[in-house]
Amino acid sequence: MHRVTLTAPDDFDGWRDAARRLSNHDVDPAEVTWQVGEDGGDLFSDAPLPPERPGARFSVPRAFVDMAQSAILHRDPERFALLYALLWRVRTQRGVMEDKADPLLRRVDILAKAVRRDIHKMRAFVRFREMEEDGDGGPTSRYVAWFEPDHHIVRANAGFFVRRFAAMRWSILTPETCIHWDGATLTEGPGAARDDAPDGDPVEALWKGYYAAIFNPARLKTGAMLSEMPKKYWRNLPEAALIPDLVAGAQAREARMIATAPRPPARPPTPANNSGTVWAAVRDEAMRCTRCPLYRDATQTVFGEGPIDAPLVFIGEQPGDQEDLAGRPFVGPAGQLFDRALEEAGVDRASAYVTNAVKHFKHERRGKRRIHQTPDAGEIQACRWWLTQELDMVRPRLVVALGATAARAMLGKAVTISRTRGAGIALENGAEGWVTVHPSYLLRLPDEAKRAQERDRFVAELRMIGARVQALA
Ligand code: URA
Repeated sequence: MHRVTLTAPDDFDGWRDAARRLSNHDVDPAEVTWQVGEDGGDLFSDAPLPPERPGARFSVPRAFVDMAQSAILHRDPERFALLYALLWRVRTQRGVMEDKADPLLRRVDILAKAVRRDIHKMRAFVRFREMEEDGDGGPTSRYVAWFEPDHHIVRANAGFFVRRFAAMRWSILTPETCIHWDGATLTEGPGAARDDAPDGDPVEALWKGYYAAIFNPARLKTGAMLSEMPKKYWRNLPEAALIPDLVAGAQAREARMIATAPRPPARPPTPANNSGTVWAAVRDEAMRCTRCPLYRDATQTVFGEGPIDAPLVFIGEQPGDQEDLAGRPFVGPAGQLFDRALEEAGVDRASAYVTNAVKHFKHERRGKRRIHQTPDAGEIQACRWWLTQELDMVRPRLVVALGATAARAMLGKAVTISRTRGAGIALENGAEGWVTVHPSYLLRLPDEAKRAQERDRFVAELRMIGARVQALA
């Protein structure tokens, strides 16, 4: 029997190194036990880990690695053994990762999905309270939050909070691990108790005011609220204290809203279920965006549109000339090609949320013409602020990046389309990401035969994406 001791419950690297060595020596899963920590097991009967085999390499499908990276964070003590058993199968049988009926694959998939949900919940439900602490230059603010994750996700989630709150000093306290950010360095400490986190402060009052202001009684669904925001988290959410009052006043407020509803805006309406929601508040804020200089020459911000609960999101590059004037994404020539391709692929555009990586039209004037210019990395990064908020609100199962700019915005790094297309990528927000070409690439191809061939490929990819969205349901 081989015993593998991992250094921490989320030690993916340790698991991968051990699994590689065991697998390279053809050690059967039944011959391995896995544990976390120092406990030595049975010194007399346990065999040491087989040595490294220099040069011995094997590759596994990307889908396996993505699934393993999530599943390893699950609280189930069996996860290491299950993953090694799945690795064994992946190495010895073809097509295991595609066999959705396979009981082992399904079990690991359930673990991975639970972890992704937990990661998302942490991102959505962590609420910081402001505290004062002594800094080198006198008292400074630190924002402190309490959170109780179901799984070992805190370290894996730290990067998200660092990126989102890069300029703040903050701590997230959890029962097992605490993470602290001082604006430059992330540190980790032992777990804390709920009482270590502060309760109530001016930030909280502000947040409550904001929540009450954006609360839309017409959308009140307490069942949905409970499933999206389990009661367990309500204690930590300042806005949760408002829920009973908001619920009680919802009917009266709805009647008032209907009576005083503003006339429909001149621009084409977005689907009705978007109006009056947090989404509309965010879009209105985006209309005044000055995060990069592109707003100066554009007519308006072109925000995304589509159902707020769409399972599928398409990200384009940026509005073109016609979109800039109309205020809606993908209505010009590229949009028309996109619409026809979607129709051929059997994907309903109206059930998807369609947006752009960059929300202002970047162009250069030549006489009367406005010539499209590709957004640069800084502009894409500045606009990721809005894209992240859109993805957080819509929470799709699948996100499709159309072209290199969109792929950069979706993945946070530059990728080559030809090397990235054709396979799903696990995104930080728990959705599955796909990369394909931008419709205007097809419009620009000079050779007719090549254009037809590339168009067919694009339609086939959209068809596959449509099927994948169903499969992820
Ligand atoms: N191209 C894009 O990427 N987005 C649009 O909205 C229009 C053209």
